[in-house]
Formats: sequence, C-alpha cells, structure tokens
Amino acid sequence: MINRRNFLVSSALAGVAGRATGQTLPGKPTSRVRPSAEYFGPQFYGEEERNQLMDVMESRSPFRWYGPGNRQPAKVATFEKEFAQAMKSSYCLAVTSGTAALQTAMAALEVGLGDEVILPAWTWHSCYSAIVLAGALPVFAEIDESFNIDPDDIESKITPQTKVIMAVHLQGNPADMDRILALARKHNLKVLEDCAQSVGGSYNGKPLGSMGDIAIYSLQLNKTITAGEGGAVVTNDPVLFERGGRFHDVGSFRAPHESLVGKAQLQSFVGCNFRMSEFTGGVLLAQTRKLAEIVRRTRAAAAQIYQGLADLPGIHFRRRPDAAGEIGVGVFVRFKSKDQRDRYVAALRRDGVAAGPPSGSVVLPIQDYIEKKRTVHPAWPSFTSERGRSIRYGAACCPRTIEILDRFGGVAVGPKFTEEDTAEIVRVVRKVYPTILST
Ligand SMILES: Cc1ncc(COP(=O)(O)O)c(C=O)c1O
Repeated sequence: MINRRNFLVSSALAGVAGRATGQTLPGKPTSRVRPSAEYFGPQFYGEEERNQLMDVMESRSPFRWYGPGNRQPAKVATFEKEFAQAMKSSYCLAVTSGTAALQTAMAALEVGLGDEVILPAWTWHSCYSAIVLAGALPVFAEIDESFNIDPDDIESKITPQTKVIMAVHLQGNPADMDRILALARKHNLKVLEDCAQSVGGSYNGKPLGSMGDIAIYSLQLNKTITAGEGGAVVTNDPVLFERGGRFHDVGSFRAPHESLVGKAQLQSFVGCNFRMSEFTGGVLLAQTRKLAEIVRRTRAAAAQIYQGLADLPGIHFRRRPDAAGEIGVGVFVRFKSKDQRDRYVAALRRDGVAAGPPSGSVVLPIQDYIEKKRTVHPAWPSFTSERGRSIRYGAACCPRTIEILDRFGGVAVGPKFTEEDTAEIVRVVRKVYPTILST
C-alpha cells in the first residue's frame, strides 16, 4: 500500500504516475521533504467537491441513469460533457477506472482473437491485461529516453496481425505523436492513447488524447485529478463511442448517450458494468474545472527547475517530444551508470529532496506472470495460436528499456511548490550533481 510517506520516499516521483515499483534506494528522508509533492488532486479539494457530494446526498440519487423523483441525475453526464470539451474531443464516456477504460477501448476498437497490439515495455500492468483480456496478443516495443514507446522500435514489431499501437504518455511526458500517427497511417493501424499518467498534458498544442482514434484516462488517486478511482474514454468517432458505451453498460446504449450521436448504429452485445456513480461524477466534475490550474502550476514549478539546471556542464535531461506540453511531474537527468544514478538519488534524499528512479510503471516483460504467460485459464486464446505460443517475453525483449531506466534519476515536482521550494531543489541538485558525475 502506498501512503504519503511511501510516496515521498520509496516512490518519490510518483506525483501523477505513482505506484510503488518495488525499487528501493538508500538514503533517509529528512524533515525538508516537501509535503506539497503529495497527491495532486486532493490538494485542491474544497467547497466545490463538497458541494457536489452534498448535492448527490441531498437528492438521494447516486445512480447515473435514474433515481427518486423526476429529475434526471446529471453529475456524470456533466462531467462527461466538460471533460470532452477539456480534451477537445467529441465524446467522453465515464467509467470506473483507467483499467476499465482500457478494456472498454479494446472493445470499442474490436480487438480480439488473432489481433496483436503493440505497447511499450515500460508502462502499467493494465495496458498488458486489457490486451490479454480481449483475447489478443501483446507485443512489446522498447522505450527511448523520453521513457515513452520508441517509434523507431514500433515498425519492426508490426506484423499482418497488428491492429493497434498503444501510445502511452508516461509520467506527464507526451509520446512522439507525429511519428506514431504517421506509422499508424502507413500501416493502417489504430492508435489508442493512454493518458492515465498525463491527464491535462498536451502535444503541439493539442490535448493528449485528442489525436489518436480513441484515448483513455485514469482518475485514480495518483493522477492529475481524482475521485480516488475513476476513468474516462474519449473519442471523436460515434461508432467507437457507441461500442464502448455498450461494452461499459452490459450491452445498453441509453437514450442520453444515443442523443449525442443522433441514432444508434449497433446492436446489443456482451458487456461489463463499468458505470460511474454520481458521487464520483460530482467530484470529478469539480476536479475537471481545476485541471488547467493544476497543470499550469506544475509546469511553472518544473520550468523553474529546468531553467535553474540548464547550464550545469554535461546535464542531460529526459527527452521531451514537446517540452511545452509536458506536465512536469518530475525532472529527470541521465547518468553513466545505475550506480551513479543511485548515489545521486541517495544524496538528494539525504538533503531532503524527494527524488527517485523513474517510477509509476513497471518493466512488464520481466514480470513473472507475463514471462510465464499466466492467465485465468491455461487455454487462454492469446497464447494458444502458433504465434502466441512462440512469442517470448522476458528481459531479452527489452534490454534498452532496462538500461535507460537504470540510468535516469529525478526530482518530484508538485503543483503547490513555491519558488522557495524549486530554488531549494535547484540548489541541492547543483551541489550534488557535479560531485556524482566526477566519481
Ligand atoms: C499508463 C497507465 N494506464 C492505465 C492505468 C490504469 O488506471 P487505474 O489505476 O485507474 O485502473 C494506469 C494506472 O496507474 C497507468 O499508469
């Protein structure tokens, strides 16, 4: 379980992305570890969220589709409308988690038996599980120094069975969308943008999630805005919206959603129940209205740190495909070796700065259950075909990913960092970095 202490210490860069990664580093925190590196959304909880919750309580109407009296519940519907606007997309479907959103997106794209989906070797478990639970085959590509999927590695992983490229925008940093979209066009593939760790980020001025065929967001505690749990699927395609909508609601496409697309195009089919409650919808509506401000503040704090370090001899930051679009949840620098990186992180922590290796994701191909292709049933369709039997996971399929992650370390950034906070981080990094580089 992750609590505030773990967050700042074991997984110090977890800001938006954070989950304990199992990596531990030496170095004890001191009292100067900044509380404002805490979970982003809850730092902004206030009257707005309280009022939304009280509305739902007082109306005694916590279900999104109907309730007591004649009034149509509107919290989730309004959240969907405003979130779609914020993401400059036509349709938004609220769901219970980012994981549910990924499964819904897979269904919307009709991913199934025999299909292959390319995903980065460094991302969250749900990206892999959504593909396997759809009966399709996950194919890993390496990351590059942006920590996102390397477009150069995608092309070699494309086969006639490839249907989707999963472009995951990790730790607030946009993936190389121009190159990914060009590859998708060339090979006639769909693009699913996973914006779970980068809600509110942008690429060339476009909101993350507005460029691919379909996008997902997580609104779980560690993300930019949150109701503890929650997720969203966004698309401009009315048929994808309908198929996703039906999948998330046991096959139904209800009148309020149908009215958004004009007329339903599909028939009912097997689905899940990933419907969002009005309580969650209310909190997320209030949080959506604060999203731009949370991102603005985080970017400003990160910019001060980048600027304060830019002239350090030899400094090499994580690659940013669009620096202006990055949220800035962490500022990462590269070292020659894992040993140097570990000593850097330990030294920063000794000086009270929340620091860590890249976190919030896992190197998926080396997870035991993935390497062994363990599923609910031994005859799971993903791995029974000749291709599914022959594909090999494990460290050999992502050596570059492991090497890159071992050599980067960073400091956490939060939306309530003051200029004093960022100046202190810059001061400590400027003191520590040259001594580490020279040893
Ligand atoms: C990249 C990515 N995708 C999907 C998810 C799943 O989101 P959730 O935890 O809301 O199910 C996460 C969660 O951390 C994530 O980091």
